[in-house]
Amino acid sequence: MDFPILYTHEFDFTEDDFRMIQKLIYDYAGISLSDAKQNLVYSRLSRRLRENNITKFSSYIQLLAKNKKEWQLFINALTTNLTSFFREPHHFPVLAEHIKNFDTKETIALWSCASSTGEEPYSMAMTMVELFGSYTPPVRIIATDIDTQALEKAKAGIYSMDKVDMLTPDQLRPFFLKGKCENEGLVKIREELQEIVTFRQVNLLSDYWPVRGPFAAIFCRNVMIYLDKKTQANLLQRFAPLLAPHGLLFVGHSENIVLISNLFKLHSRTVYELQK
Ligand SMILES: C[S@@+](CC[C@H](N)C(=O)[O-])C[C@H]1O[C@@H](n2cnc3c(N)ncnc32)[C@H](O)[C@@H]1O
Repeated sequence: MDFPILYTHEFDFTEDDFRMIQKLIYDYAGISLSDAKQNLVYSRLSRRLRENNITKFSSYIQLLAKNKKEWQLFINALTTNLTSFFREPHHFPVLAEHIKNFDTKETIALWSCASSTGEEPYSMAMTMVELFGSYTPPVRIIATDIDTQALEKAKAGIYSMDKVDMLTPDQLRPFFLKGKCENEGLVKIREELQEIVTFRQVNLLSDYWPVRGPFAAIFCRNVMIYLDKKTQANLLQRFAPLLAPHGLLFVGHSENIVLISNLFKLHSRTVYELQK
């Protein structure tokens, strides 16, 4: 059956292509693209077709089946990495208060499970450095994401000045180095802070997560919005045994998890704890 061509400008993109892409990204990453996302898919993937000298989405889809590197670039292109330092700022004082309850004789583990370009786990690390008054707090943070390019940026820890606009001088000075000469306009996360955070690629949909709990806190913020209810419920089921007793799960502002799982109850605004 022939499907109508949705776009005829630079690349051929049919309804059939869109359905196939919807299925590929859903099956692999759990990302649920609604039918309204056709423009988004076209514009996000156009660069991939251009770089591969391909003029039809159908040919690009065929390429994905045989080229692992391109497959990862396809995934990267379809993820949304929007984030910022101290996003949803009310979470960080809650995290600091919560960590005060833990025995510091053992290393306290935290997980940022959709860490994007690193602003979230570095904000967690800054909070821990401030809490313990030391660049070597008894804390390790594992930061994971499916997107390899976001992870590379996170590991490098280099950001443009506008990304740190909202930080006070007291937050900037101890945690960032200001670029000079050819690095003018850039800041770099201090190495001491980078040492607290380990970045690794993890697809939340995969059967095995190479992370070791128990976690005093899991940050799973602004990723469940891209997943359907079934996938969200499955994730929550898998987070529960990874949390330390009294561990907290931090979610994004529009992610109300009590409607999806009866394992958690509300602790404070968009922060959850396990039901007893
Ligand atoms: C909007 S960002 C959220 C970043 C950060 N947590 C925050 O709230 O600012 C969503 C992130 O989820 C990641 N992501 C999407 N699907 C994923 C999956 N199946 N496994 C792991 N990460 C995923 C994306 O790559 C993206 O970096």
